[in-house]
Amino acid sequence: MKAFMIERYGDRNGGRITETPDPRAGAEDVLVRVHAASVNPLDFKIRDGDLKAILPYRLPLALGNDLAGVVVEVGAGVTCFAVGDEVYARPDKDRIGTFAELVAVHRNDLAPKPATLTMEEAASLPLVALTSWQALVERAQVQPGQKVLIHAGSGGVGTIAIQLARHLGAHVATTAGAANAGLVEELGADVVVDYRTQDFEEVLDGYDVVLDTLGGETLEKSLRVLKPGGKVISIAGPPDANFARELGANPVLRQAMNALSWKTRRHAKRRGVTYSFLFMKADGDRLRELTRLVDAGEIRPVVDRVFSFDQTREAMEYAGKGRAKAGKVVVAMR
Ligand SMILES: NC(=O)c1ccc[n+]([C@@H]2O[C@H](COP(=O)([O-])OP(=O)(O)OC[C@H]3O[C@@H](n4cnc5c(N)ncnc54)[C@H](OP(=O)(O)O)[C@@H]3O)[C@@H](O)[C@H]2O)c1
Repeated sequence: MKAFMIERYGDRNGGRITETPDPRAGAEDVLVRVHAASVNPLDFKIRDGDLKAILPYRLPLALGNDLAGVVVEVGAGVTCFAVGDEVYARPDKDRIGTFAELVAVHRNDLAPKPATLTMEEAASLPLVALTSWQALVERAQVQPGQKVLIHAGSGGVGTIAIQLARHLGAHVATTAGAANAGLVEELGADVVVDYRTQDFEEVLDGYDVVLDTLGGETLEKSLRVLKPGGKVISIAGPPDANFARELGANPVLRQAMNALSWKTRRHAKRRGVTYSFLFMKADGDRLRELTRLVDAGEIRPVVDRVFSFDQTREAMEYAGKGRAKAGKVVVAMR
């Protein structure tokens, strides 16, 4: 089969479509013919070698963390999927490589594709929708009437997180450029702060939850818009001890990772709020719940642009800088 692969880390123009052996489906696996895959910042971070310490892949490596496609084979232990099913997934972090014609995915990481979506739309969802779910439903336990701030509302995560927070009954604020104000309002934002001309810290106050997708100064300021007892959940800030534990890091690495968030946690404690880092996980069961929300019209994908498979490198370049619009960039294999 063909796959978009990197041979070494750190080459920003790296990656090319290469012939590679077809993946084999183990007993608990489902072999999927990929129809579409979406681009995530995670793909650049892996390509650039930024995550080598926590995600030690063997090279050459096929990139790609999201897929929609059709089942072509099931392992002996798989009863919940059959050949011909339309599915979508964010495969486990140790089994990525969806910029490819075929991928073997563990059955627990797959879900039926939303019937109301095209393959390209479905492929845009798994990683960002699971991230939003794990942050807002599982970690923050957002309740109706709570005030939730979603940073970067026009991004892949932001466009879905706004809709999910709204579905949970929250009052939603978001930061976005002026050009995307209309879009994020349509998705359910009650308050839009133009991050280029306004300081969100000066206009927002008393929030229960912040989903931080940017880290750095945005994260520090986010601690100050929370009410006492509020929570910042960051997917882009420094890691914490819980994340290190989940990763199975050794005690030295665990301590080193926890030290990276020490200052932020200290600032949070002083203000009577909490900071935690989230690294999303593959989860077919939660993806099934998201499928239901999508088919019920509660959440819709936002696709910026679709590229063909042989334009995968261009798709990554486009997603990485100078995008025209909002939402996700997708690569269509078929
Ligand atoms: N830890 C995890 O499990 C996890 C999961 C998913 C994503 N992430 C990380 O979360 C981050 C966001 O992911 P994504 O998929 O949403 O990325 P994305 O689709 O590339 O979106 C980034 C967005 O940030 C906006 N933006 C840039 N600077 C901003 C600012 N100062 N204030 C508000 N918005 C700003 C951009 O808007 P403009 O177009 O207006 O510039 C763009 O829409 C990435 O770093 C990614 O790696 C982590």
